This record gives sequence, structure tokens and C-alpha cells, in this order.
Amino acid sequence: MEQNQPPLSGFSTRIVGRKFAKPDAHGAITLPVYRNAAFEFPDSESIAAAFQHRHELHTYTRISNPTVAGLEDKVKAASGAENVVAVASGMAAIANTFMTIAYAGGNIVASPHLFGNTFAFLKSTLSAFGVEVRFVNTDNLDEVAAAADQHTCAFFCEILTNPHLEIANLPEIAKIMQAKHVPMVIDTTIIPWCGFEAKACGIDLEVVSTTKYISGGATTTGGVIVDHGTFDWQHSPKLAKTPQPKGMSQFMFKLKSEIARNMGACMTPDTAYLQALGMETLQLRYEKMSETAWKLAQHLTRQPKIVKVCYPKLETSAYKKLADRLFSGNPGAMLTIALESKEACYRCMDSLTIIRRATNLFDNKSLAIHPESTIYGTFSPEMKRVIGIAPNLIRISVGLEAFEDLAADIEGALSRA
Ligand SMILES: Cc1ncc(COP(=O)(O)O)c(C=O)c1O
Repeated sequence: MEQNQPPLSGFSTRIVGRKFAKPDAHGAITLPVYRNAAFEFPDSESIAAAFQHRHELHTYTRISNPTVAGLEDKVKAASGAENVVAVASGMAAIANTFMTIAYAGGNIVASPHLFGNTFAFLKSTLSAFGVEVRFVNTDNLDEVAAAADQHTCAFFCEILTNPHLEIANLPEIAKIMQAKHVPMVIDTTIIPWCGFEAKACGIDLEVVSTTKYISGGATTTGGVIVDHGTFDWQHSPKLAKTPQPKGMSQFMFKLKSEIARNMGACMTPDTAYLQALGMETLQLRYEKMSETAWKLAQHLTRQPKIVKVCYPKLETSAYKKLADRLFSGNPGAMLTIALESKEACYRCMDSLTIIRRATNLFDNKSLAIHPESTIYGTFSPEMKRVIGIAPNLIRISVGLEAFEDLAADIEGALSRA
């Protein structure tokens, strides 16, 4: 709902050039931060109308806030989505989405190759409410098709799995799910909107950890739920009877008017301010980080102490063709290296001097982590096997440092190890 603006074509232009929904009283050029909790109304009728969804004025920051709405609007401009809700973290985006669409007796068809907390949310938190999670091998389309039935609330996977770097054939899975009236819910954290086209991938809903690429250097934690308005929720036994106001899907109405406000994991205005600034440099950072990641991936394949480099642009990746097709050959700034053992991984990591030993992805700083002992450190051996986490793997998130410095850091660490 931008002020009278012509359509903007370039990705960064759409974000940087997006005007606020309402002119700022002082002509501020950057999104002002409205830190207040409550908003005042001139009379009882207008506050009642706001509460009854008869107009869209802000009442209370847990429900909506002008600064947060400004970020949501930039995400709409970037993703081409119909509606966006910002929340406190990527996990809040995932939890709010599944609380909106799942129900006891329903099921979710999902890849088991998921970020650790996401796996635990589905397998433990959500299943305690009677939602069955059916893990499938997304490389096997027959298995995916056989798992979905009339009680399937969603197909779910990550656009590029963390840390396995696998890519599901989303357009083909979308055809299967469309025929079965199942929404495609995809965690697109690992590839930002300048790197893929949601509609071409058949994605109905995106859940994103904006802590990563969007935040502009790990400034804050945040998440967004992005609705492309493509799924007909009349097919959902849970949402079919939900009202559908103009310009909003039944999913979005249920999420905004009930789930998100009741769960209470709202994004703060300060976070929205920082993330809106982060979005303005998203494309620049993404292009630079992924260019360095590609150079690093090629360079590391020539290191004798590295058993395997995983990056979907390498010819050795089984997912190269899909990366070329879905992400125009740019699979981003995450790569993994396998060494001969867990001990070798520890020794290498402990010798790094530029790359930081830290969790998180797509900070401006390069980060390295040993997923098996950290993100999945409390998981049982059986769960680690299902998720496919190897003990000899280091995940590297490539930042903005020079390629030469990062290459020298890893080479030095390998030789000292
Ligand atoms: C793919 C993916 N999804 C979701 C999350 C959770 O995001 P957050 O830490 O913002 O809750 C992460 C975190 O690393 C992630 O990598």
C-alpha cells in the first residue's frame, strides 16, 4: 500500500525505493521507529472498528505496528507476495505457520533434512498436539506422492537444506501437491528473494529466518511468513470456514486475527527498523558473499586434507542442475567441508583466526560450526541418522572478507591441524 508509486523493476530499487504507507509527518527518509505499545483513538466507535477488523489502524504493538508494517511492506516488494507477517524469529515463523494450518489428526509431509530446531519442533513439539509428521526422501517423488492424503496440512522442506545442501525438485513436487490440494510451505531462509522465484518453484507459503540474510549482518533475530495467495484454503478442513477479507487469504486472516496475536511472538519495532535497513543492502551482500563462496568451494576441492567439499554449483553435486534451474546457478553463501574425522574438524576449527567459531548464517563475518556436536549435539544417534548429520562435517557461512584471506585462513588451519 505504498503512496502513489509507479512499479519499480530492479530488485534493490524495489526495496530501497519503497515508500511508507503514509507520508511521515517530518518527511523522514528512513522508516521511523514507533516504540510505543498502544495507539490512541479519537472515539469509542473508531477503536471498536479497529478491533473488529473494519479498518486497518494499529491498536497495540503485539498485534501490529507501523515500523513492523514498513518492514512487511518491503518484504512484499522483494518477494512479490500478497501478504507478509513479521515475527520474532525464524522459529516463530515456522511455529506460527504450523499452528495456523495443522490440526490433531492431520499430517505434514516433510523432508527430515532440516535445521535442528525445526526438526525438533515438528517431531516433538507439534506431534504432542496430535499432528503426524511423515518424513520422506524428497529425491523420490513416488514416495512424496504416496505420503500425502486428504489430511495432509502441508508439504514442507527447506529450499536448500541446512547443512546438507540438497535441493528438492520443487516444481515437480508442487504439481503432485496441487493435484492433492496440499499447500507447499517452504523455508526459504538459505536463498533470498533476489535468488529465486517463488511462483516458478510452486511455493504457496514461505517461512524465513530474517536473522540471516535479511538482518544486514546478524543485527537482530527475526522471521517472516510470506503468503503468495496461491493456495485455495477451501481445501483445508481447518481453514475452509475462516472468513476471507478482500486481498487476504483465509490462512493470512487466521494467522493475523488469531494465531500470531495469541502466540505473542511479535517482531519488535527496533528489530523491524534494523532489518528494513538490512534489506536495502541484501542483494549487494548476497552477490558478494556467494561469489566468494563459489571461489572458496573451488579452491577447497584442491586441498588434500579435505575429503569432500559440498556446494551445489560444483560439478560433483547431485543438485547442480536444480541449482542452475531454480537459483540461476547461484546457490548462496553456505558450504560444507568433510575432513577425515570429528577430531580433525575440531583441530581445524580451533586453528582458524579470521573465520569465527559461531552458529548463525550469512553474517557479514564468516562463521564456521561443527553441526553434529552443536546444532544436533543433544539429538540421539538414531535422530542424527534420520537427519543425516555426519560427525566429520564443518559448515562454513561465507561473509564479506576477501577470498584470499578466507582461503589462507582455512589452508593455515588445515596445515596446523
Ligand atoms: C533454515 C533455517 N530455518 C530456520 C532457522 C531458525 O531461525 P531463527 O534462529 O531466526 O529462529 C534457521 C536457523 O539457523 C535456519 O537455518
